[in-house]
Amino acid sequence: MGDLSKQPGRLRPAPENFLTEEQVKAVAAGRRDFLRKSFMAAGAAMAAPLAARAAEGDPAILNLPEWSKTLGMPVALNPYGQPSKFESQLLRRESPGLARVGQASVSFAPLQGLFGIITPSGLHFERHHQGWHDIDPAVHRLMVNASDPAFLKKPKVYTMDDLMRLPSVSRIHFIECGANTGLEWGNVAVPTVQYTHGMLSCSEFTGVPLKLLLEDCGVDYKKARYVLAEGADGSSMTRTIPMEMVENGEVFVAYGMNGEMLRPENGYPLRLVVPGVQGVSWVKWLRRIEVGDKPYATKDEAVHYIDLMPDGMHRQYTSIQECKSVITTPSGGQRLLEKGFYNVSGIAWSGRGKITRVDVSFDGGINWQQARIEGPVQNKALTRFNINWVWDGKPAMLQSRAVDETGYVQPAYGQLREVRGTKSIYHNNAIQTWKVVESGEISNVQVL
Ligand code: MTE
Repeated sequence: MGDLSKQPGRLRPAPENFLTEEQVKAVAAGRRDFLRKSFMAAGAAMAAPLAARAAEGDPAILNLPEWSKTLGMPVALNPYGQPSKFESQLLRRESPGLARVGQASVSFAPLQGLFGIITPSGLHFERHHQGWHDIDPAVHRLMVNASDPAFLKKPKVYTMDDLMRLPSVSRIHFIECGANTGLEWGNVAVPTVQYTHGMLSCSEFTGVPLKLLLEDCGVDYKKARYVLAEGADGSSMTRTIPMEMVENGEVFVAYGMNGEMLRPENGYPLRLVVPGVQGVSWVKWLRRIEVGDKPYATKDEAVHYIDLMPDGMHRQYTSIQECKSVITTPSGGQRLLEKGFYNVSGIAWSGRGKITRVDVSFDGGINWQQARIEGPVQNKALTRFNINWVWDGKPAMLQSRAVDETGYVQPAYGQLREVRGTKSIYHNNAIQTWKVVESGEISNVQVL
């Protein structure tokens, strides 16, 4: 089977990137002696108290390593910093066979290896309908116009330079593709959290409220009740946004992500940020905003990103991503190597505001305990939760259930399917279950 760490997102040792398949087997078989021989196994030795390890003669303590005896690397060797070579397995990954070409596909964020709430820009998930471009900001333009001259007094064209001189805002928000967890509607389909939930990322975005631009162009809010956003790529990506979302100041045109310019894959030099709304409305490479008086019924809202309901009808214009959560570690494809303490950690989010509570179950939803929420809790952003767990070596079913500030409680699969059936692709926010068996292996299962 080879080195497990080279098998993308299928079965990964825990803690990831530290142990080879042989080392995992050794620990599982109760042979801990190799720990004394190998520095690389230091990750697994964490279960033993430091003093005990020193007494056993841990070479990682007894032998002074190279880096304590030699001169290190100079500053600016990497003018743009890179992650450690030991983290080389933490990558966004494309699901094999999901799409026929990489230009109309998705790469998933490795949620199982991330901490806190911010997704590093290089690991932000990607979803393109017609490939990505690295567009020269000097020739990029944003046009603001109207379907009827009565809606907007002065249509305008902005350069990037014009936009970046306007008053800006910086806000942390999650973006989740409406198709996230979509493979799981009928049944379990993929093994790890990277593939079940990885069309999700959270960043600090910086840009200009769309309201400010529309008012600069003399919008008439009484007449113009919708906005159409259009991207500059070949996919003719166009989405309707109701004007209330713009008027409340939440929607903005962003050029910044996590303190630097957007990455090309994520819309450089300009994208729309529509907090709480499914990712497809966050139009990338944004080149035009049109104001109008009715929804535009474009292809990506009339026939795609719609929900097939049990009665055979299609539900259109579902836009808000409902409250959802998932345990990211321990999670599918990982393996608990020993009984004992685990910090169970996960993320929760809601397109309707802040997360107020997350409960965790270790027995498939029979008993629940309140998790610790790590603040500050932000509006329409990922929220990190943690809870202590001592694994007794017996089978367990790990679940998390989030509640948002509207009081909405994340549904179980049974509850969601009662209303939505099983034929949808989009908007699956059901409770995720990770099953732990006696060997410590963890897999994706569904509990109704
Ligand atoms: N905008 C344009 N112009 N073209 C696209 O293909 N994909 C949309 C949206 N905006 C897309 C787009 C979809 S479906 C999603 S989920 C998000 O961008 C993904 O954003 P990301 O690639 O930055 O994660």
